[in-house]
Amino acid sequence: MQRIHNVTQLADLDDDAMARCYAYPRQLDRPWVRANFVSSIDGAFTVDGVSAGLGTDADHRVFVLLRELAEVIVVGAGTARAEDYGGAHPDPARRRAHFQRGIGGSADGAPPPIAVVTASARLDPAARLFTDAEVAPLIITTAHADPDRVAALQEAGAQVEVAGAAAIMPAAVLRVLAERGWQRVLCEGGPHLFGQLAEADLVDELCLSTVPKLVGGAGGRISLSASGFDTPMSRKQLVLAEDGTVLARWARR
Ligand SMILES: NC(=O)c1ccc[n+]([C@@H]2O[C@H](COP(=O)([O-])OP(=O)(O)OC[C@H]3O[C@@H](n4cnc5c(N)ncnc54)[C@H](OP(=O)(O)O)[C@@H]3O)[C@@H](O)[C@H]2O)c1
Repeated sequence: MQRIHNVTQLADLDDDAMARCYAYPRQLDRPWVRANFVSSIDGAFTVDGVSAGLGTDADHRVFVLLRELAEVIVVGAGTARAEDYGGAHPDPARRRAHFQRGIGGSADGAPPPIAVVTASARLDPAARLFTDAEVAPLIITTAHADPDRVAALQEAGAQVEVAGAAAIMPAAVLRVLAERGWQRVLCEGGPHLFGQLAEADLVDELCLSTVPKLVGGAGGRISLSASGFDTPMSRKQLVLAEDGTVLARWARR
């Protein structure tokens, strides 16, 4: 029987082994963009408009680990609004341990900030993004955004960066992050932001949890963009959970 490389049972991986599976590259001279999504086996990325209905313990374990490893978590405003995003609260000791191993995390254990990409700055200053965050969120917006809205977000504690006139080029998003010294980027979606990053060939890897459910519905898919593209990816690793969840890591060839 032919052995397939890089296929592991989740039950065989302790937390440190799991972290090694998802390590960011040690040396980086540019932002490394990792995206993370969950999908049903019939291709749905939401149930009733949010991803929570797709969650499994295995997917949650990866979700938590990827947040521990990242220097910044970037999302589109549609995701922040739909999922009522709060700040990330990873275990500080795990963050420090990842940093010491050179695979991610942070030296002082501080959590990664959430960066939200929004042309409109249409975010609620009373939302969890501002009230439930240990570090200030970063709002990456446009000159077109209503100045009163922008001021209200600053008042609520956000840092704000204007990075475009009416829309923001995907490369400009990464430039803003790199200027702050954040290179280990975790993009948690949604499909419009991810699709634009992928269309611009700026996605280095995709972590995709496929959960063993058929859910139907009229939901969309994880990547949406103005034009189609054809980016070959390599399967870097497959981790199989006992509950049937398939944790795949795909990297740009
Ligand atoms: N299954 C999963 O793993 C997963 C992961 C993430 C999200 N989701 C789901 O995805 C859905 C949201 O999808 P979505 O496509 O609407 O969300 P999205 O990509 O998160 O957000 C789209 C919004 O982001 C802003 N944006 C994106 N690209 C921009 C650019 N180049 N310049 C300026 N602003 C930009 C705009 O915000 P403004 O309108 O404020 O200008 C736009 O309306 C939710 O239902 C969520 O639950 C699922």
